[in-house]
Amino acid sequence: MSLDLVPLMPAFGAEVRDLDLAADQPESVIDELKRALNQYSVLILRDQRLSEARHVELSRAFGPLMVHVLKQFLTTPYPEIYVLSNVAEDGKPIGNHKEGWNWHSDLSYVAEPSMGSLLHALEVPPEGADTLFASMHAAYEALPEETKERIRPLSAVHSYATYYAKAFPDREPLDETQRAKTPDIVHPIVRTHPETGRPSLYVGQDIVKEIVGLPFDESERLLAELNRHAIRSDFVYRHKWQANDLVIWDNRCTMHCATPYDDNRYRRVMHRTTVSGDRPF
Ligand code: OGA
Ligand code: MN
Repeated sequence: MSLDLVPLMPAFGAEVRDLDLAADQPESVIDELKRALNQYSVLILRDQRLSEARHVELSRAFGPLMVHVLKQFLTTPYPEIYVLSNVAEDGKPIGNHKEGWNWHSDLSYVAEPSMGSLLHALEVPPEGADTLFASMHAAYEALPEETKERIRPLSAVHSYATYYAKAFPDREPLDETQRAKTPDIVHPIVRTHPETGRPSLYVGQDIVKEIVGLPFDESERLLAELNRHAIRSDFVYRHKWQANDLVIWDNRCTMHCATPYDDNRYRRVMHRTTVSGDRPF
């Protein structure tokens, strides 16, 4: 058996057709999905009617799952499911609203960031709320040779506290336990995909605070330049969600960014699982 794959962009991304992940799948299919993820970095699957239990089970086939530090948004019976939503029930948000409204890869602010995420759409607005994905392999490969050489030895500080303060200025800052779980972390700016050996650019908006060993101004300039380059339109796929879409992406070689919607008018409920990864090198 081999997957029916339809490429989305010249550089990356594929839709997987005619596969029902709500049904049990043999290991060979999961292996093919992993191979496809290594090749395409982002996989789209429409019409996946996954229960929460099945979403978690399927995600575990990709590796052990991470549990998000914001416990208030783990509102299903499964702590591995992180809820993104503007919906409140009994006056309490069921998920984190305005999460990911910046270019980032998931959990880059921990020592061993996530290798991949599986985001399942339960309720989506009829307009807006697209998610953008960018290939960091394509971004790296398109850099001028001299920039590649300049940045190859560099590392940068990823900071959840910095991101949180910028993303959610109207909320209480992280508490001590949350801060203790998310100290600043240094990662290389160019990382190597552990399975394919392909290099990619490893940056991000808001989360990446500074480049190690550069004067602050120079660090700001270079980060701004790299972040701008990283999301050049030819590296970006825009996903327009339908309910029951499942999108699987590789956090080691892509970034993504949410886009706004009329959150007074429309409900959005998304469930994310996050697969553990290795230390970037
Ligand atoms: C995520 C994320 C963006 C979105 O689930 O990790 O950043 O559009 N989501 O909800
Ligand atoms: Mn994200």
